[in-house]
Amino acid sequence: MEVHQAHGLRGTIEVPGDKSISHRSAILGALAKGDTTITNFLPGADCLATLACLRALGVAIEGPDRANRVTVHGHGPESLVEPEDVLNAVNSGTTFRLLAGVLAGSPFFSVLTGDASLRRRPMARIVRPLSEMGAAIHGRQNDRLPPLAIRGGRLQGIDHTLPVASAQVKSAILLAGLFAHGTTSVTEPAPSRDHTERMLAGFGADIQKEGLTTVIRPGPSLSGREIKVPGDISSAAFWLVAATLVPESDILIREVGINPTRDGIIKVLQRMGANLEVIPRDPAASEPVADLHVTSARLRGVEIGGDLIPSLIDEIPVLALAAALAKGRTVIRGAAELKVKESNRLATTAAELRRFGARVEERPDGLVIEGVPQLHGAAARSHGDHRIAMTVLIAGLAARGTTTLDDAACIDVSFPGFTGLLKTVAAQNSL
Ligand code: S3P
Repeated sequence: MEVHQAHGLRGTIEVPGDKSISHRSAILGALAKGDTTITNFLPGADCLATLACLRALGVAIEGPDRANRVTVHGHGPESLVEPEDVLNAVNSGTTFRLLAGVLAGSPFFSVLTGDASLRRRPMARIVRPLSEMGAAIHGRQNDRLPPLAIRGGRLQGIDHTLPVASAQVKSAILLAGLFAHGTTSVTEPAPSRDHTERMLAGFGADIQKEGLTTVIRPGPSLSGREIKVPGDISSAAFWLVAATLVPESDILIREVGINPTRDGIIKVLQRMGANLEVIPRDPAASEPVADLHVTSARLRGVEIGGDLIPSLIDEIPVLALAAALAKGRTVIRGAAELKVKESNRLATTAAELRRFGARVEERPDGLVIEGVPQLHGAAARSHGDHRIAMTVLIAGLAARGTTTLDDAACIDVSFPGFTGLLKTVAAQNSL
């Protein structure tokens, strides 16, 4: 795919439904009794993988239809059946880890696998606590890598402290806790996204938050409900940065989820000097929602680290692009987790932005970026990673000349329609 430097990005846009919330709505719908009707479900490849796995576990699901509506006919956790074949999470870490929690509690045998990228991602972080709860789990390389073979059932609650903040690991343990005897608690070093906790409470689970500890007690059965998924702030992030960097731009992004465990990108862009206005809207799915209005601005470098990192972990590639054109130095620390995402995002972000003339240095736990006044177009690569692919295309809008991307198909994982939207927003305004 080819993009050209743009001028004056304008329009009112919507981004697809939140990926994390879409996964959770389908999984909790499957564990609940009664119908769960989900609107604005993300029809991206990751969330479709979750639906396919749930169907293989015997759950009746309709959709997504053309309006992105999904109906899950839930009959409670005991209605899940042993799958006849391997469950494939494809590229989706959330599908893999959250379902591992459900499968650990289910009294049958299953095998979970994924694509080449997912099969390289660390799973000891879920295998250890779920095994401690009583599930028998085995995988490659001393049970550290997928595929994982799981024989679940008869779990005991545990008190688990996470070494790194991870919503996927926290969620896997909380979901297993629904099936366990006794109380389960998870303590995090810093707050990670809390969609699972909010949604479990909405479905009627007995779940409490005490500081950085979440406690779940099994007992109440979950009841199906209606869920309207807000727009994904991680997808909105690309347009926040695009409109900031491309001169004469003015974009309104409607109905984006602004959960405080996800809004680091807004806080940091504002600290960097972005013209970014947050206009509150009605909450949806127990989540705060806002319209985001952004116009062009010249940014300045910042230091980012600590507890802020989990709240913008998926936005760091595109934030690094913003920093590449900011005045001064940006330092990102405490983000070693980026090495074990869909690609090694410290390495791939640095390598791809450098092709545009950005000054980016990779550190063991982050990036150091010296802003430059101009980027130039480049022949860039996605590394099979949707967020790297989108970062490269937005860089192409801001960079002088022409940019090519080797593979835009991977964008479908989280943002179907991204390239079409890019063409519309930039249409009459290419330089
Ligand atoms: C996600 C959690 C995050 C994030 C991922 C989605 C989730 O990973 O990077 O894209 O839906 O729970 P962590 O488990 O490292 O927090």
